[in-house]
Amino acid sequence: MKQMPSAWRPGSWRSRPAKHIPNDYPDTGALARVEDTLRAFPPLVSAGEVRALKARLADVANGKSFLLQGGDCAESFKEFDTNKIRDTFRVLMQMAVVLTFAGGKSVVKVGRIAGQFAKPRSEPIETINGVTLPSYRGDNINGEEFTAAARVPDPQRLLTAYSQSASTLNFIRALADGGYADLHRVRQWMLDFTRKGGAGARYFEMANRIDEAVRFMEACGITPESAPQMRSVDFYTSHEALLLGYEEAMTREDSTAAPGTFVDTSAHFLWIGDRTRQLDGAHVEFLKGVKNPIGMKCGPTLEADDLLPLIDALNPENEPGRLTLITRFGAEKVTAGLPKLVRAVVKEGRNVVWSCDPMHGNTVKTATGYKTRPFNAVMAEVRAFMDALPAEGAYPGGVHVEMTGQNVTECLGGGSAITVEGLSERYDTACDPRLNGEQALELAFLVADKLHADRAEARKAAAG
Ligand code: PEP
Ligand code: CO
Repeated sequence: MKQMPSAWRPGSWRSRPAKHIPNDYPDTGALARVEDTLRAFPPLVSAGEVRALKARLADVANGKSFLLQGGDCAESFKEFDTNKIRDTFRVLMQMAVVLTFAGGKSVVKVGRIAGQFAKPRSEPIETINGVTLPSYRGDNINGEEFTAAARVPDPQRLLTAYSQSASTLNFIRALADGGYADLHRVRQWMLDFTRKGGAGARYFEMANRIDEAVRFMEACGITPESAPQMRSVDFYTSHEALLLGYEEAMTREDSTAAPGTFVDTSAHFLWIGDRTRQLDGAHVEFLKGVKNPIGMKCGPTLEADDLLPLIDALNPENEPGRLTLITRFGAEKVTAGLPKLVRAVVKEGRNVVWSCDPMHGNTVKTATGYKTRPFNAVMAEVRAFMDALPAEGAYPGGVHVEMTGQNVTECLGGGSAITVEGLSERYDTACDPRLNGEQALELAFLVADKLHADRAEARKAAAG
């Protein structure tokens, strides 16, 4: 007999099978006490902001805007640093300006930041020199250091993660509203790399043209006083909703909405990873019930017949902006795997945002032991995505990237031609390899050029 679904509660995920959530906390009483402490802490984001983001994502679903989502694979306690936050914010702003100016779309800006700590791991254990320990699972669970003590899950880490998320978000709000994101500063956002050739030189030229446009607008009487969007930006936060005890503790009833309306206030946007999207699993159960805009990663193991029930479980009202499908096939699999999913979703008339994560399907290991991503493969997947969506009658609405403002050497190739030997120079990631600022800009220009070409084509078709 089919079981009747019981009413959703923030804790109803606890009776479902849960992958990638540690079940080896030595003291579960201590974990429960930490979760109770978190329940009393202030929300990190408000229900109103969450609603505003959903409305902006509805514009993306309808083809009017573009979603830019990016940041570290994993934030870490050790790497917590003002300059790093500011530089990540700055590169995201640069990418957004490229997409707006060269691509002609308004951009919804979402950071993988202020809460992106927990990581699903392919291997539960790690062996080094004959010693086997549990894998590192993200700084809000255990420590990266290769010692037995560090690898034990520690609930106190949740409080540190909350505190780091709160101060990161506070600083980002200051950057977004306090003048740093002012359009008059587009030229000053240039990092060192932008003075050289390639994407940097192109950005420099574009920044000069924006400067002229801003001066022209001001001469016409359009000033930051009359048009505040010249001086501040809307910036939203996101992370993978993996560690559900934390997410549950941060979930609050929205007092301004109907009773029983819950919002996960740990971030504006939460997503389900490719490894935890089981229809009857804990992660799907949790995200079903919160009103935030949510994402779901879609990789090569997902078939259209499994995708549609997931869409209906997560977005039963078919509300545009509620659900973003983040595709991550890898350059070699995208052409075989993506079009059939898009076709099925279009055919059934489901409203979703399609966004391309060109990172997680393109990870390789070098002979020297570095996890890396060839920038060519990253670009190839973006290109294939931008071609496949319109071919199936859908809109390529966003990109989701792992990037940093630091000049790291983690992904092969790109403008500064990082080689296998060069990877060790500045390989700093706490988890997966990230695009550096220059590679991120190059990717933004590729997307902008594609959007621009699609618009030109649409205009031509409209003119007959
Ligand atoms: C991630 O986004 O860091 C991640 C683990 O991705 P995926 O679930 O797509 O593998
Ligand atoms: Co990652």
